[in-house]
Amino acid sequence: MHHFSYQNGELCAEDVPVAEIAAQVGTPFYLYSAATLRRHFAAFDGAFAGQPHLTCFAVKSCSNLAILNLFAKMGGGADIVSGGELFRALKAGVPPQRIVYSGVGKTEEEMRFALESGILLFNVESEQELEKLRDAARALGKTAPVSLRVNPDVDPKTHAYISTGLAKNKFGIPIERAEAVYLAARDMDEIEIRGVSCHIGSQLTDVSPFVESLGKLKALIGRLRAQGIGISHLDLGGGLGIRYNQEEPPPPAAYAEAVLAEMAGLECTLILEPGRVIVGNAAILVTKVLFAKEGPVKKFLVVDAGMNDLARPSLYGAFHAVLPVRQHPETMKADVVGPICETGDFLARDQEVPAARPGELLAVMSAGAYGFSMSSNYNSRPRVAEVLVRGGGHRLIRARETFDDLIRGEAIPDNF
Ligand code: LLP
Repeated sequence: MHHFSYQNGELCAEDVPVAEIAAQVGTPFYLYSAATLRRHFAAFDGAFAGQPHLTCFAVKSCSNLAILNLFAKMGGGADIVSGGELFRALKAGVPPQRIVYSGVGKTEEEMRFALESGILLFNVESEQELEKLRDAARALGKTAPVSLRVNPDVDPKTHAYISTGLAKNKFGIPIERAEAVYLAARDMDEIEIRGVSCHIGSQLTDVSPFVESLGKLKALIGRLRAQGIGISHLDLGGGLGIRYNQEEPPPPAAYAEAVLAEMAGLECTLILEPGRVIVGNAAILVTKVLFAKEGPVKKFLVVDAGMNDLARPSLYGAFHAVLPVRQHPETMKADVVGPICETGDFLARDQEVPAARPGELLAVMSAGAYGFSMSSNYNSRPRVAEVLVRGGGHRLIRARETFDDLIRGEAIPDNF
């Protein structure tokens, strides 16, 4: 459930007409609803009430400081995958003891930064990484709190690019190898083993792969404990899907119920790393129609947002509904395309969209997760503004970039 709805034929974000904001900030822009963000966080986090747990929001899905701060105030932590994300999470007020650090390629500098910050857990993805982390901790005279991210070889039944828990994926330590690596870790003075973690993929629309991998993790924890290796944290990663089109993902309550049933009797603090399910449907991308073009075989709406602003349709063939900002009686089958010089630049393809005219505003729905955070400056396009609505008010939470922002740090060398 989100808070974007029509009132008197006008699309509103909570109580604010989207067109009003567009008139103030220009287009394109991302528009987030605070009530939706809060509602989704509370629904997810609340579903695990009764179980010691920590909801670490996946920063990569939406990394604006205002949004990270909103979740931090609700007791949320952060799942980070880079030094930059750690910097953001700390700036946003996420306490370091609520931060977990995932990722297959952590650098020494990033490890040092995280060790110095005092984060809760490093999700270590290989033996080489474990050794490098030990060395980094030793050099700083610190101990590194660690979970091993295991690869349970479970099919998440999602898009190939965002499946991570199969044996053929680059992620994690193969579950059969895990025990040996835990034993090695136990002998490292600077490593403090705290947990087991996994993340099998994103946009999962079925709970069974989660339950299957949890079952494998549970068995591993049993074997580790039998060898005297204490495991206090179990990190199940993120991945719960949302509805973009016709998908019917389980609601957080059903997901939690299945997870908690499988976890029964396992004395562990549960860590969850949701991204999409919290922010996906909490934002729209507002764009203006520049031209309505009729080719010999297709109709196109050329809009002012492109694949650099929202990469998901081009990259994954992802579906995003396109709705009119002022309710429109007619629809048509068309492509909604951007100004980028590539045929792959589309926001919607062969989709039923408003029969809009130049100047009209469109809302690209479900754009909150991996929308702005994956945007780029391709074609030297300044990244768009981000706006947060709360009730009847709104605030700019990221200014539109300027042309000067585009060339910041660039230099033409003298006599070179
Ligand atoms: N934890 C880890 C270790 C992850 O790699 C991810 C996502 C998450 C948590 C959060 O997953 P979520 O709850 O959002 O599904 N750009 C793609 C999605 C990439 C997901 C990468 N990892 C997209 O736009 O669909």
